[in-house]
Amino acid sequence: MTCATCHVYVDDAWTARLPAPSQDEDAMLEMTAAERRPTSRLSCQIVLDEELSGLTAGIPDTQY
Ligand code: FES
Repeated sequence: MTCATCHVYVDDAWTARLPAPSQDEDAMLEMTAAERRPTSRLSCQIVLDEELSGLTAGIPDTQY
């Protein structure tokens, strides 16, 4: 978690089902190439399991 190149916009339907970002993730989300939105997350920090099967997210127009 040192680059923020994995920035994604999680679809609204899934955002509330994810744990809140850690302090480190929150800080990294301030350094993304594209604007941060309420649904912004670092995809490398999302731990997938059965409950998140089907999660969808979009990628920003710009990445580093
Ligand atoms: S912050 Fe570098 S891959 Fe996620």
